[in-house]
Amino acid sequence: MAMTQLRIGMIGVAGRGGLWRHWHDPAGRSVVVAGADINPEHLAAFRAQHGGDPFTTTDYRELLARPDVDAVAVTSPDWLHEEHAVAALEAGKHVFCEKPLAITTEGCDHILEAWRRSGKRLMVGFNMRYMNMFRTMKEIVDAGVIGEIRAVWVRHFVGFGSDFYYHDWHASRRNTTSLLLQKGSHDIDIIHWISGQYTRRTAAFGGLDYFGGDKPNDLTCPECPERETCPEAILTGRRTQCAFRREVDVEDNQVMIMELDGGIRAAYLQNHFTPDYHRNYTFIGTEGRLENSEPEMKVWVKTRRSGTWKDLADRTYEVKPAAGGHGGADPVICKDFVDMVLDGKEPVATPLAGRMSVAAGVAAAYSMRHGGIPVEVPPPPEWLR
Ligand SMILES: NC(=O)c1ccc[n+]([C@@H]2O[C@H](COP(=O)([O-])OP(=O)(O)OC[C@H]3O[C@@H](n4cnc5c(N)ncnc54)[C@H](O)[C@@H]3O)[C@@H](O)[C@H]2O)c1
Repeated sequence: MAMTQLRIGMIGVAGRGGLWRHWHDPAGRSVVVAGADINPEHLAAFRAQHGGDPFTTTDYRELLARPDVDAVAVTSPDWLHEEHAVAALEAGKHVFCEKPLAITTEGCDHILEAWRRSGKRLMVGFNMRYMNMFRTMKEIVDAGVIGEIRAVWVRHFVGFGSDFYYHDWHASRRNTTSLLLQKGSHDIDIIHWISGQYTRRTAAFGGLDYFGGDKPNDLTCPECPERETCPEAILTGRRTQCAFRREVDVEDNQVMIMELDGGIRAAYLQNHFTPDYHRNYTFIGTEGRLENSEPEMKVWVKTRRSGTWKDLADRTYEVKPAAGGHGGADPVICKDFVDMVLDGKEPVATPLAGRMSVAAGVAAAYSMRHGGIPVEVPPPPEWLR
């Protein structure tokens, strides 16, 4: 008999693990039946908010051993995705894995191999593919409005850089490799998705130009003598480690250039100490140029036939705002995961895409730390090409 309700277990229940709320619908097509987390307080909060009687454990292997769990969402920190996703696939579960797929290219390939052997479904948490802004841009490109894409330029202003990246585990290379594949895995993926090509070669420059420093590794903002004056102080919540501590070693200011298949040239800037937070994308094709503004929720197209050089655009698209986390993307990506497993729908965010954005970011990080030399991105496994 075909499955009509998907029973999901979460690995990592707080932070991004909050996605469980979109899946938990006891009368609907998916229900969250279990949660694993090393932090007992997070498990207690999950149980209290859940309202039912989910199985909870501090050992994710106990969750994987349960026959009443059909699928697993891996929402643990980056360096654990490989271990958790491989173990879940080997236990015969379908897997939703948050981005980045892993923190090394080999780690991604390890997951892909476990996926191939398992015969189960795997999808990556690329929720930007579900945002109306980027869907609109993809539709315009796919309709041929700007012709063949030849150039891409992306600026990512991560103005909450210290809030989300420098006050906790994200700030160490051992946990993330680089923010080019942590934060940047989304942007690299959108470049790949909209242009329809993957990065073949890359080079990058970058440094730690604002965060990091000589403060002790165990210093936290609430106990810091400079908490009243420090512009980066965060006094409450789970991310309160000092952003100027010694162990911080991931670059906060970086530029990456890329050559994609099909001869597309792309450039990506990611900066973590700008005062604003948004992403600005430009795609230039043989027939025109496409650009977006997140603050204005607009997409502009200027075609070569417009006959002017000063005007920004000859067509303006208003992007519809949507309710729900990350511009309405989170409820939709969660639904897509359920549709993939229950109905066999092809996922928008494929395992191959997850692997290729990490592989490009890893190659760029290597370049950045070796004098900016060009680095080839290793091709995906033969069976996936
Ligand atoms: N797609 C998106 O928009 C998006 C947004 C935020 C985060 N993320 C991704 O989600 C992941 C989690 O990020 P976060 O900010 O929620 O991190 P986090 O530090 O808040 O951790 C998430 C949860 O995992 C738990 N955890 C830690 N180690 C564990 C282990 N060994 N076993 C089980 N649980 C463990 C933590 O206790 C916490 O409850 C990251 O990989 C991040 O890149 C994606």
